Amino acid sequence: MLDKNFIDILACPLCKSAVSQEADFLVCTNKNCRHKYRIVKGIPIMLAEDEKQSIDMRITAKKWHCQYELKKTKETSKADLKRLKNSVEHIKKYWHKTPQKLLLEAGCGDSVNSFELAKEGIMTVGLDISFNALEMAKDNFQKAGLKSWFVCGDMLKLPFKNDTFSFIYAGGSIEHFRNTEEAVSQLRATLECKGILSALVPMVSLSSFTYYQLQGQIPDLPIIRPLAEFIHINILKEKLMKNGYEKSFTIRKISNIFKACSLTEIEAGFFKDEYDIKYIKNDFLRRILKTIATWPIFWPIIYVNGTKRNA
Ligand SMILES: C[S@@+](CC[C@H](N)C(=O)[O-])C[C@H]1O[C@@H](n2cnc3c(N)ncnc32)[C@H](O)[C@@H]1O
Ligand SMILES: [Zn+2]
Repeated sequence: MLDKNFIDILACPLCKSAVSQEADFLVCTNKNCRHKYRIVKGIPIMLAEDEKQSIDMRITAKKWHCQYELKKTKETSKADLKRLKNSVEHIKKYWHKTPQKLLLEAGCGDSVNSFELAKEGIMTVGLDISFNALEMAKDNFQKAGLKSWFVCGDMLKLPFKNDTFSFIYAGGSIEHFRNTEEAVSQLRATLECKGILSALVPMVSLSSFTYYQLQGQIPDLPIIRPLAEFIHINILKEKLMKNGYEKSFTIRKISNIFKACSLTEIEAGFFKDEYDIKYIKNDFLRRILKTIATWPIFWPIIYVNGTKRNA
């Protein structure tokens, strides 16, 4: 049986009613809906499967499924470890400014951030569309004797009750939608009052038009965005889209999205990242590129935070 406190925060993604457990399923308590969600290996799969997937979700889900399959056999790189240290420090800095009850990692992947936070006694919930990733995460938590709850679900149809989380960390996830506003507004609804949403997203800089074109990135700018979508989806048939459908934003654009979703005290800026320059094998050239990547005109990642002040 799933933990009762876990079931209490969950909601049917279709109608937002409470759910209850019946054997290996969570069942919507709304008698006009009664949708059933399977629980596999202790992870509820709360996806509205009967709905046709949008193109951005289809490309993203497929690519991340493959990436996590590969990750099972891949060693963690030094850059990955440094990046993790930076993101965990970033999360802790803002977590302490919230009511500090429950933390959601939205688009958690294999939950490496939540893993570090759980070691410090923070209660985390991991949501991802990739069951593969959640299975890896749950396994790692169990082996280390750490507690967390995991849900397979879609950020555009969140399976949580409103006013639930003190803090939401969306590291590298809200850029995977054509409709970023919808994702931010759904996440905001599940924050409790005084809760903070913190996201990391790719930045529109010279990197977006050069290096990140090799990964099929879509700069979210007028004219450029439909053009890049057409090239990467229709002409190149998604071949370069390593991270699925992935946009980059200017600081102004992502801040305006947060503002439009009624978040307040918006703060945005450069996020210190570590870079794997994967396509260049020459060490000297790689070092030069890593240095150039830290120049503001090439900066790849930005963070944006917003607070929920009222219902
Ligand atoms: C760049 S990874 C970030 C993983 C993790 N936050 C981290 O920092 O290590 C992006 C994640 O977002 C997930 N994702 C993409 N679209 C999603 C959606 N519609 N709903 C939930 N998760 C999604 C992907 O499966 C992937 O695990
Ligand atoms: Zn329902």
